[in-house]
Amino acid sequence: MRASAGIARMVRETSLTPDNLIYPIFTTFGKNVADEISSMPGNFRLSADLLGKEAKEISSLGIPAVILFGIPETKDERGSSALDADGVVQNAIKEIKSAVPDMVVITDVCIDEYTTHGHCGIVENGKVLNDPTLEQLGLMALSHAKAGADMIAPSDMMDGRVGRIRRDLDAEGFGDLPIMAYSAKYASGFYGPFRDACNSAPEFGDRSTYQMDPANSREAIREVELDVQENADIVMVKPALSYLDIIYRVKNEFDMPVAAYNVSGEYSMVIAAAEKGWIDGDRVMMEILLSIKRAGAEMIITYYAKEAGKKLNG
Ligand code: PBG
Repeated sequence: MRASAGIARMVRETSLTPDNLIYPIFTTFGKNVADEISSMPGNFRLSADLLGKEAKEISSLGIPAVILFGIPETKDERGSSALDADGVVQNAIKEIKSAVPDMVVITDVCIDEYTTHGHCGIVENGKVLNDPTLEQLGLMALSHAKAGADMIAPSDMMDGRVGRIRRDLDAEGFGDLPIMAYSAKYASGFYGPFRDACNSAPEFGDRSTYQMDPANSREAIREVELDVQENADIVMVKPALSYLDIIYRVKNEFDMPVAAYNVSGEYSMVIAAAEKGWIDGDRVMMEILLSIKRAGAEMIITYYAKEAGKKLNG
């Protein structure tokens, strides 16, 4: 059955479409800023005024959604600038929605890009505190909702945050706003280029007191289970490539839409090897995206979304 391209098409089990893709956007303060991220070639820190044009391009490729990350002008211990109604992400949401009203704007909810210490929670005496962080996450989600976000994606890995954000959104009239939970998020070396992009590497210690141990798989099921109980609408596995087994398990054990995050290091490794002429970067990246879909994710957050979109549109 492999001898003819026509038959191969008929028996093909998995296909990737632009509908499966979510493009991450880094947005920053200022005007007319388009700063290429050196460790993530082809990706930029963009000021809000440039996002209308960016959103139109993404939409023209058939990609339905973006996820926003903010690089704020000021940081403090509590990540207060994350709650600013006039903050980087809040302004970005408004720009994108006014340029492309149909674009699904997802926002990453986590304070690490807004804190001086770079941790995802409130820190006291060198320790990241779970419960005191929840209030801040609820306020951040609400601030994104008020700015017009279409979906909230908490990536902090504090226990109980999905339930807390759900309650806070419901109480303020945002009962229809879905939550995409970063449910099984591992403490991973693959986040290196992202932390470089956001200047959010932790000042002390690492994230292993709240992100998952890469050695664990059953624990991922418990983490997803908790988020489902707390009313997450979509569950996510992150990173994707070294965790295809986790994506597969989650898809099989839960009747839930599953997202996977093809993270910065997974992207930049391929770009770097392709630059050296060691691999065909486009071919490898499409193979990676297909494998993530095959493992069970219907949504893939990827820095390669625009390139993949172009290829899929032929
Ligand atoms: C936390 C967050 C991170 C990523 C997405 N959300 C960084 C981290 O946990 O250190 C990483 C994404 C990537 O590497 O592409 N706000």
